[in-house]
Amino acid sequence: MIGMAITVEYTSIKLLDKLYEIEKQCFEEEAFTKHQLAYLLTDYITIGLVARVNGEIAGFAIARVDIRRNMSFGHIITVNIAPVYRRKGIAQRLLNEVETIFRKEGIKDCHLEVREDNVAALNLYQKLGYKKVGNLEKYYGEAHGLYLQKSLN
Ligand SMILES: CC(C)(COP(=O)(O)OP(=O)(O)OC[C@H]1O[C@@H](n2cnc3c(N)ncnc32)[C@H](O)[C@@H]1OP(=O)(O)O)[C@@H](O)C(=O)NCCC(=O)NCCS
Repeated sequence: MIGMAITVEYTSIKLLDKLYEIEKQCFEEEAFTKHQLAYLLTDYITIGLVARVNGEIAGFAIARVDIRRNMSFGHIITVNIAPVYRRKGIAQRLLNEVETIFRKEGIKDCHLEVREDNVAALNLYQKLGYKKVGNLEKYYGEAHGLYLQKSLN
C-alpha cells in the first residue's frame, strides 16, 4: 500500500454487498443485518460515506442528524474499516469528513455509543476529542456501552 491514495465519497445502496461484507468482518453478533444496512443506506436522513484506497473500498461511516427537544445533534452510527486497511488513518479521515458535513449544517454537538471494551474505537474517538458523558448499562447484550460526545467548534 505504498503511495496509498485515500478518497472519500458519499456511498449508495449499490455498494450494499461490499459494505455488508466489511460489516461482518468488523462485528460478530452485533453486526447490522443486511436489511438494517440497506435501510440505513437509503434513509434520507442518513449520511453514508465510503473510503477507498487506490479505488478499493476500505471502509465506511454512517451518521445522521438526530433531533431532540428542538435541538439537532450529530450522531455517529458506525464506522467500519476492513481489517487489512486498519491503522492507516482511514477511520479518522471518515470521521473528520462526517464532522465537516455536520458543521456545514450548523450542528454544534456530535454523539455516539461505543462498547466499553472496544479499545480501538475508544482510542480513536478519544484522539478526535470525544469525551465520555454517560454509561449505557447492558447496551450490547450483557456488555456495557459508553456514551461519548464532542462539541464541533
Ligand atoms: C475502530 C476502527 C474503526 C478504527 O479504524 P482505523 O482506520 O484502523 O483507525 P485509524 O487508523 O484512523 O486510527 C486512529 C487512532 O485510533 C486509535 N486506534 C485505532 N485502532 C486501534 C487499535 N487497534 N488499538 C489501539 N488504538 C487504536 C489510535 O489512537 C489511532 O491513532 P494512531 O494510529 O496514530 O495510533 C477499526 O478498528 C474497526 O473497524 N473496528 C471494528 C468496527 C468498530 O468497532 N467500529 C467502531 C464502532 S463504534
